[in-house]
Amino acid sequence: MKDMDGLPRKDPDGFGMAMDEGNEKGDRKCSCDHSGCVFLLVMGEKCGKILKRKDIMSTSEFQVHRSARDCIRRSTRNYGKLLTWKNGNITKEYLRKEENEMLVQKYKDMLAGKSVIRELSEFATARGQEIGYENVFDYSLGNPSVPVPQAFTDEMIHMLTDRESNALHGYSPSLGITGVREAVAASLEKRFGLPYRKEHIFMASGAAGALAHAFRLVTEPGDEILTFAPYFPEYGPYVNLTGAVLKVVPPDTESFQIHFGKFEEMLTGKVMAVLINTPNNPSGVAYSAATLRKLADLLREKSAEYGHAIYLISDEPYREIVFGGVEAPCVSAFYDDTIMCYSFSKSLSIPGERIGYVAVNPRCRDAETMVNMCGQISRGTGHNCPPSIIQLAVAKVLDQTADLSVYETNMEILYRELVDLGFTCVKPGGTFYIFPKALEEDARAFCRKALDYDLVLVPGDTFGAPGYFRMAYCIATEKVERSLKALRRFVEETYR
Ligand SMILES: Cc1ncc(COP(=O)(O)O)c(C=O)c1O
Repeated sequence: MKDMDGLPRKDPDGFGMAMDEGNEKGDRKCSCDHSGCVFLLVMGEKCGKILKRKDIMSTSEFQVHRSARDCIRRSTRNYGKLLTWKNGNITKEYLRKEENEMLVQKYKDMLAGKSVIRELSEFATARGQEIGYENVFDYSLGNPSVPVPQAFTDEMIHMLTDRESNALHGYSPSLGITGVREAVAASLEKRFGLPYRKEHIFMASGAAGALAHAFRLVTEPGDEILTFAPYFPEYGPYVNLTGAVLKVVPPDTESFQIHFGKFEEMLTGKVMAVLINTPNNPSGVAYSAATLRKLADLLREKSAEYGHAIYLISDEPYREIVFGGVEAPCVSAFYDDTIMCYSFSKSLSIPGERIGYVAVNPRCRDAETMVNMCGQISRGTGHNCPPSIIQLAVAKVLDQTADLSVYETNMEILYRELVDLGFTCVKPGGTFYIFPKALEEDARAFCRKALDYDLVLVPGDTFGAPGYFRMAYCIATEKVERSLKALRRFVEETYR
């Protein structure tokens, strides 16, 4: 039974009613009734209407039936406001209580789903203590293995010796040090031909920090962000803890480019941003110009159809690790509403220094406002004012990288061996990852068996591509070569 607001009436028995409904515009309401407690969840303009209701009573804030709680949880996770009525008066106390509880619960729930990559890496370390780490073929973690460029070290020494300490160790302005933002913009303009200025640059704590700002810039809780499998598993918490919802487009396993058929099906009006990572962790594949052109055309078409921008968030920590003869075009050149998220972690081998930036495409609508908004977002996330000394040091080596050639050497050795052993594998165009098909359907079982040969591999399930596995070959070439014997023994003794 519905009343004039379209809301379900209070259950005449005051017992166990829980509802969750929405309309196609995205307005959402939830009504839960148990033992005289009524909760309403509404969003947008509907709120005003419901505030006028006087006939709903809430007795005890703590006598809430589980189904009602679940209903509230489910709804408030995705949508707006929860209002409760107590003797005809609205009280927000219960809302605060529920929100806190949900927040804490969210992190508690995450304890059960710890990073598989981290766990495997911890396993490798523990095994190393037993048999010597040199005997563990640890392909788990994407931690760069090459030294930082000498120019970076020299600049740090020079600054520590010659510059005034407060300038090095004091707070940075919240958008980043002005001279550093200018230098980043000039370097991007020179390299990619887009008219970047400091107003388009926000300095952030690595790619993770940059992405945390990008997601919050363009989504409200409940909005969807699409990404493509295989994908970096940390995107799950990065996105979902903002309140937005990460949805994953299944992979095109032939090429690990984009599966446009599946993508189009999932690109509904709820999608506010599409998140890509090229060259890609874990496949190692760089999206081609043809892929990026098709992606941009589709986003323009759908933005016009839905009447709102669909932003492209381009996660680019591996931009500089591209192998000979491979095309890895600049994403921002294809689509105006692109937010580039860059990190120096891999290109300079400085992941521990936590430095990167957001570069909003100068042609993006409201680009300068968005950069200013990043400064406000930081106030909430605590990712504000990245270390001054590291900003100053990277600004001096913007057009340099560590010697990254070892990654290509390692890739060639592994790729040749894997193909020789009968693995199906797309040849990586960059990064320091390779993503072959496992020799049995269950990649988790495959990776578990590999541990018997002290080969630490990561199952593709973690990356949204079951049946595959990742090897992070950012290790010494000598160790890659020694691992081939173990790999061959593993395959021959287990699968032949
Ligand atoms: C695809 C991808 N995005 C983001 C990150 C996070 O990078 P950072 O350490 O710069 O925050 C990583 C780190 O491995 C990554 O592989």
